Amino acid sequence: MKAPFVTFEGIEGSGKTTQVGLLSEYLAGKAVPHIVTREPGGTPLADEIRGLLLARREERVFPETELLLYEAARAQHVRAVILPSLSSGKAVLADRFSDATSAYQGFSRGIDAARIEGLNAFAAGGLLPDLTLLFDIDPEDGFRRLPGRGRRADRMESETIEFHRKVREGYLRLQAASPDRIVRIDGAPPAGEVFRRVQAVVAARFGW
Ligand code: TMP
Repeated sequence: MKAPFVTFEGIEGSGKTTQVGLLSEYLAGKAVPHIVTREPGGTPLADEIRGLLLARREERVFPETELLLYEAARAQHVRAVILPSLSSGKAVLADRFSDATSAYQGFSRGIDAARIEGLNAFAAGGLLPDLTLLFDIDPEDGFRRLPGRGRRADRMESETIEFHRKVREGYLRLQAASPDRIVRIDGAPPAGEVFRRVQAVVAARFGW
């Protein structure tokens, strides 16, 4: 059986990256073979594209350009890292995947959803996550968590609160459209409490 592909989604400050780390530790403790990766990134080329996307710059980055760069990074990441891992029996925990493109470049930047779906499918070679955990949090609360990271906000984090409200709304609509694949988890409680919910979901789905 192909190993599970699990993605972690949510707005900035939703705590998803912390949860990826906690689940990885938990799986390591149970000797479940897996890798942890993230988008954009995961290979040297895709990490370079990440740098291009997140750098703050004077030049305006058009939504179409942004979309294609995220998809380019994904095309590389899926073929070089995700598919080989899954076919060798290692589960993949990915900090963001195609739903982020639908929420950010689709709902928030306003690019047509059907076009994004087509590009997501092309870049990912049709690969969809087996399970997506959506950490849902109010953008104001999410932003309060950001300054603690000890670095300047990147280009996406510097977008307005309105932009991030639309991203959240987009994620919630994606969840409503695919309730079997996407599970909404309240991201507001302390990390340990949120993780108990994650544990319950992955235990029910994969016996982890
Ligand atoms: P991160 O901060 O969670 O690592 O994600 C990097 C940023 O890129 C974050 O602001 C979300 C954004 N993003 C998109 O806009 N579209 C995408 O397809 C992905 C994967 C991320």
